[in-house]
Amino acid sequence: MAHVRHYAMCRPDHFAVTYAINPWMDPSAGADRDKALRQWERLKAVYEELGHRVDVVEPVAGLPDMVFAANGGLVVDGKVYGARFANAERVPEGPAYLEWFRSRGFTEIKEPEHVNEGEGDFLVLDHVILAGTGFRTRPEAHHEAQEFLGRPVVTLRLVDPRYYHLDTAMFALGGDNIAYYPEAFSPGSRAVLERMFPDAVIASAEDAAVLGLNAVCDGRHVVLNAEAGGLTLELKRRGYDVIPVDLSELRKAGGGPKCCTLEIRS
Ligand code: ARG
Repeated sequence: MAHVRHYAMCRPDHFAVTYAINPWMDPSAGADRDKALRQWERLKAVYEELGHRVDVVEPVAGLPDMVFAANGGLVVDGKVYGARFANAERVPEGPAYLEWFRSRGFTEIKEPEHVNEGEGDFLVLDHVILAGTGFRTRPEAHHEAQEFLGRPVVTLRLVDPRYYHLDTAMFALGGDNIAYYPEAFSPGSRAVLERMFPDAVIASAEDAAVLGLNAVCDGRHVVLNAEAGGLTLELKRRGYDVIPVDLSELRKAGGGPKCCTLEIRS
């Protein structure tokens, strides 16, 4: 079942690749900001055409990665667990997003003690929150989120630097199922995923390499990088409506549709 979703997005007015904090980023390659803006506008229009609500966060000059709103926090039951970034280049985004939540009237806010990059490393399902660690978010933050939100949090270890956030290797299919790329996870975490999600969609290396797992599903539609051909076929076979998008410019910073999207769960 599709549900109306509420998302926050941050316009890439200041987008650029000026530093490298993941293997996708090459400051010498050059990114086209106007193209990134057009691709971002299209993604926003897709959500709105599906009937979802999109709030736009004011971007801050000098924070080129702020477009990746998923990292700005984790919102569950109207409670905001703030982000605390691992890399100095992005640290000011944490307070900027918290300020935005305050200005929007959110009152149950946790300023985090531990490093965590918001929904980039937390995947909210109906009965459990899956949480990534290994590159950015600290396991201590998983405990902090569990205590604050009162939801069970399961720690998963990421092992491939190309898949440095959980949302580069996995997405939620609505309800309690997921799609993921097993090789991005440690052997123990893979065993946990096999046990918890016997019906999961398993992605190939090719689909993972175009950030095909950085997708957004509302329960019925899946907004997905157009290049992820194998995933597209499998999702259609399972009855999902796949909506391809082109975010090639933003991929130069290591991001896709999900990275640009922070879900507000009231
Ligand atoms: N350049 C950004 C970084 O490395 C990309 C963040 C992508 N966001 C995400 N949720 N995976 O931090």
